[in-house]
Amino acid sequence: MTGLFIAFEGGDACGKTTQARRISELLGAVFTREPGGTEVGESLRELLLDAETPLGFRTEALLMAASRAQLVEEVIRPNLESELHVVSDRFLASSIVYQGYATGLPLNEVRDLSIFATNGLLPDLTILIDLPVDLAMRRRTEMPDRFESEASAFHEKVREGYLELAETAPEKWVVIDGSGSLEQVSSRVDDAIMNHLKLVLGNSSS
Ligand code: TYD
Repeated sequence: MTGLFIAFEGGDACGKTTQARRISELLGAVFTREPGGTEVGESLRELLLDAETPLGFRTEALLMAASRAQLVEEVIRPNLESELHVVSDRFLASSIVYQGYATGLPLNEVRDLSIFATNGLLPDLTILIDLPVDLAMRRRTEMPDRFESEASAFHEKVREGYLELAETAPEKWVVIDGSGSLEQVSSRVDDAIMNHLKLVLGNSSS
């Protein structure tokens, strides 16, 4: 038995960080985020999000993967092996969507790079908080980082990329409508996780 690994994904300002933290507390899970979550990962995060630091697309993909590799080795895998649940605010799908679908690097190469980084580890469940781009843009409050500064066409590709990924593996993904009040979105997320847990527990006892 290992802990359950849940990743939250979605476009910028979709509300997934709030949901990821809430669910992590509810499950008594270890919470982490990407890029970041370790000492080297947080340094990489600063470079990656700083809109002033020139960064080629391949360098960006490699640094995202490097941050992920360290996070898996130092935090995610050891905790799962100690039977603790882990909730991550973003994981491998962020790279496929941002560096692949939106930036244009070949999807299979980005996926392979990430799988090398995680040594094959994938989430048990990925929760996608889906929100139309114009709604998300209206929710933004802080100075835009490197990715938030992108034009809305970029964010449309991010949204479409996520929806396509979720469609290809429906047993591992749940798509949540991120519009409406915090209470509404929270109850959708709770229901989705409960249903998934019932499924997992049902399968393990049969
Ligand atoms: P963050 O502030 O965490 O954004 P959010 O609050 O919307 O999650 O910034 C992370 C940014 O990094 C986000 O714009 C997506 C981007 N990103 C990638 O491009 N590739 C990746 O693999 C990851 C993990 C994040």
